[in-house]
Amino acid sequence: MMRYLTAISICVLQAMMVMSLPASIPFQKTDINILQRNKRSAEGYIGCMHMTSFPGSLQYISDGTLDTCGLYVIGEPDQIIEITFLDFDVKCETGGLVAVFDGWELQNELFPSVYDHPHDLTERYKMYCGENGPKMFLSNQNVALIQFRIPQPGEGFRVMVDFKHNLQPCNAVEMFQEGIVTMKNYGMRRNCTTVIIFPEKVNLLNVDVGVTSQTKHFEEEVGLTDKCMNVGGGDYLQIMDGIGLDPSMMITKDIVCGSNSNNANNPTYILGCQNSAVRMVSSGDYHNTVTFMYSPPTVDDISEQDMC
Ligand SMILES: *[C@@H]1O[C@H](CO)[C@@H](O)[C@H](O)[C@H]1NC(C)=O
Repeated sequence: MMRYLTAISICVLQAMMVMSLPASIPFQKTDINILQRNKRSAEGYIGCMHMTSFPGSLQYISDGTLDTCGLYVIGEPDQIIEITFLDFDVKCETGGLVAVFDGWELQNELFPSVYDHPHDLTERYKMYCGENGPKMFLSNQNVALIQFRIPQPGEGFRVMVDFKHNLQPCNAVEMFQEGIVTMKNYGMRRNCTTVIIFPEKVNLLNVDVGVTSQTKHFEEEVGLTDKCMNVGGGDYLQIMDGIGLDPSMMITKDIVCGSNSNNANNPTYILGCQNSAVRMVSSGDYHNTVTFMYSPPTVDDISEQDMC
């Protein structure tokens, strides 16, 4: 897994020079490049920028930097993240601040986007200092972020990171460059996005979106169409790519609904930007599911118009 995380640091985080937050939060610009220099020590001490995909305890002790720092946590797509604060010594008087974010924030872009996450930003983003430190936090998807600025040397915090099974996964960041993903809405009204942090070739293997109703669990295959909108909005898939992580800022390459399990007839998409995404919009009127395969596009696959 480390190999892929290295790829994350290089491909995504290197490009990320600004880490700013939703309006009204007094954090400053941060240079993310320091992420690659800081490694977790044997005792679990981390530097200003750190990414982990392993359970265990991590500790940050300020060396007096005024930078905004980040601990980025990522699990498997069907996991959620549990973060427990074991120690918290961040005083308000010394200007210290720790924020827990339900998702990732990179270069002003949020994952999941505000249109896909079940809670609004004020609920997703909580700041702490002083006596009332954070206790336990459970994310809604496989990524979470602790952002902090602790100017006073010696102050800091210690957390225990753990991963739990997500019974009904929705939004997820994929760390791997190739794989097969199945997304479902479990009959619910909700929007789910899978973001892959690489340019990809995406092939829809099995689509059943906006067809199978709650009561009748099997319908005849109707084929795929892009005429997915109805008065209620409609259920559909969006195939997207973009430079940043936020699905709501990405470019939609196609919209698809219907049903087809014959993958020979299903479209393949070349997504040439840094990040690729498949988004499923569900009204709650249907049981939607999509299975797609993704793999790195070859040089021959990518034409001029696929470039970002
Ligand atoms: C899902 O997204 C659509 C369009 O992007 C939006 O109209 C709808 O309100 C969203 N649904 C939920 C449950 O957030």
